[in-house]
Amino acid sequence: MIINSNAKSDDRKRMIMIAPSILAADLSNLCYEVKRTEASNADMIHLDVIDGHFAPNITFGADTVKALRRCTSLIFDAHLMISEPSRYIERFIDAGCDIISVHAEVCNADTFREILNRLKKGSVKVGVALNPDTSIPYWLMEAMSEDAIDIINIMSVYPGFSGQRFIPSILPKMKDVHELIKANNLHTLIEADGGIDHNNVYDVVRAGARIIVAGNSVYSNNDIAHAIRMLRERAFRGVES
Ligand code: DX5
Ligand code: ZN
Repeated sequence: MIINSNAKSDDRKRMIMIAPSILAADLSNLCYEVKRTEASNADMIHLDVIDGHFAPNITFGADTVKALRRCTSLIFDAHLMISEPSRYIERFIDAGCDIISVHAEVCNADTFREILNRLKKGSVKVGVALNPDTSIPYWLMEAMSEDAIDIINIMSVYPGFSGQRFIPSILPKMKDVHELIKANNLHTLIEADGGIDHNNVYDVVRAGARIIVAGNSVYSNNDIAHAIRMLRERAFRGVES
């Protein structure tokens, strides 16, 4: 798996991963949707789990993820927009997630440390997501300094819905996180999530993002392979040589 921290550091710096969000796909036909996404050269599937409490929408849970696991071998990137992630971590590990991100806004130093240990025990990549107006809490800094974080999802919309407009004011935060990662030679990857399309993907990659979540800009296109290819091509232009 390319997100493996053993990948050569030069390769990791240059890589781009496209993660279509199935929230924007045809929800009545999800197995077909993940299959055609895999056939269209996506690197992973982004799974937006929302509980109607943390954010004002309700999507799907671990049982749906488990059912989808039988449809594809793509990396499952679960983004838990839920108020009590510690109640459900094992359910999502058992469902076959490869990456699980929890939101910083619902964690503190103790609860996050516990979640981190459970994710590591389940051999799942550890992600932390930040809302547009959330800065990095001290406990995340600590975990980063131990190089214990695989992914930081820097959201460029408020959680809840696909198809929202990209918020450019998150870019300085993304750059700061990128500088921190570079300065400490960490393996952490930045994930850009929300309103990403072929016009702004260059900016998030310049700011350090390497995993590109895209819902509407992929699935609103009749030819999703073309949309993914366009995103990847534009993203590569932003990668520092
Ligand atoms: C927002 C989700 C995002 C979003 C992606 O709650 O976390 O993953 O739906 O979809 P687009 O790219 O349409 O914003
Ligand atoms: Zn998401």
